[in-house]
Amino acid sequence: MGKPLGVGIVGVGNISTQYLTNILYLSNLKLIGVSDLNESRQDEVASAYSVKSMSGDSIFTDPDIDVILNLTLPQSHAEINLKALMNGKHVYLEKPFAPTVDEGTPVLELAAKKGLRIGCAPDTFLGTGIQSSKFMIDSGAIGSPFAATASWSAPGHEIWHPAPQFYYQKGAGPLFDMGPYYLTALVFLLGPVVKVIGNSMRSNRSRKVHTGDLAETPLTIQVETHISALLTHESGAQSTIMVSFEVWGSCLPTIEVYGTSGTIIVPDPNAFSDIPKIYTTKDQEWRTVGEKAGFRSTGRGIGLSEMATAITENRAHRASGALGAHVLEVMESILVSAKGDQRVDIKSRVDDIPPVPLT
Ligand SMILES: NC(=O)c1ccc[n+]([C@@H]2O[C@H](COP(=O)([O-])OP(=O)(O)OC[C@H]3O[C@@H](n4cnc5c(N)ncnc54)[C@H](O)[C@@H]3O)[C@@H](O)[C@H]2O)c1
Repeated sequence: MGKPLGVGIVGVGNISTQYLTNILYLSNLKLIGVSDLNESRQDEVASAYSVKSMSGDSIFTDPDIDVILNLTLPQSHAEINLKALMNGKHVYLEKPFAPTVDEGTPVLELAAKKGLRIGCAPDTFLGTGIQSSKFMIDSGAIGSPFAATASWSAPGHEIWHPAPQFYYQKGAGPLFDMGPYYLTALVFLLGPVVKVIGNSMRSNRSRKVHTGDLAETPLTIQVETHISALLTHESGAQSTIMVSFEVWGSCLPTIEVYGTSGTIIVPDPNAFSDIPKIYTTKDQEWRTVGEKAGFRSTGRGIGLSEMATAITENRAHRASGALGAHVLEVMESILVSAKGDQRVDIKSRVDDIPPVPLT
């Protein structure tokens, strides 16, 4: 293995803890420095991980940093990505790719123009749960897949997140926040989406912060809080998805894929290694699926590590900006469809994503 990719993290809030921990175990990545609008948080994290505390724009020009890991809020994703690419850095960002297709497109274009990589979470689909499900589908275990359902619901992230206002601003809500896990998995399992029909609603429930320093602060709601949609994949398969910040109890989340000779229960795509279950006409009972493919015992950051390997091997990476942008177009189109009461065609496509051998 050559020199590890030097990583600079912009935005060291809630989710950064998982990346900061995992990068320590991903040998082709080396954390160089961190930056945050909140300088005391920036200093605290830099000191805890013995890396540079980088104020202002210094993180974008540091010669030891090869890739900016953008963990800021959705509303800042495009701006930070463009700044990083302008300075010759690769980018990997948390989902969603951008709050709108209009904001995301120049990022993809600039990365292509500069010959730089852009990767986008979620990377959960690289874990054994979804990869083993895909292995079973590809091996014909359920016959020909023709449909899927995907569902995630909760009362709202304000129950646990100490600064949840951003979840109710444009670029978030249950669709843009949780949708990327389910839609990315569906695209990986069944291929790109070509058209959507959406339905949505926004309740008038009053919401407030539940935990932390901001507890009891009222939240302003600027997004749809319950969304359902029908998707048609290029293969002809149909998916049904529901995501909601309105539901008080559910035994889901999960994805089910239906084939002509069986069904596979794909585990929660917000996790990496849960175990799929399969029912086939041959066995006529539910069985668990062992690890067949994917990265074992992994966590957030594996998509960036896989991107680093792909750079070294001069091949495409899997958790790509193109995939993030396709999922973004699907999400935006669901809302357009819901508003206009019409079917919307999806313009973008993604190439088949090669499976990950059991690693
Ligand atoms: N919290 C989770 O469980 C979770 C899980 C998966 C993905 N994500 C995604 O990760 C991203 C961050 O979420 P979070 O929960 O960590 O949010 P957060 O509010 O806890 O943290 C965001 C951090 O980014 C900093 N920041 C914002 N704009 C900045 C800028 N322009 N420059 C530098 N720093 C800036 C903020 O000061 C803050 O410290 C979001 O896109 C979210 O969808 C979060």
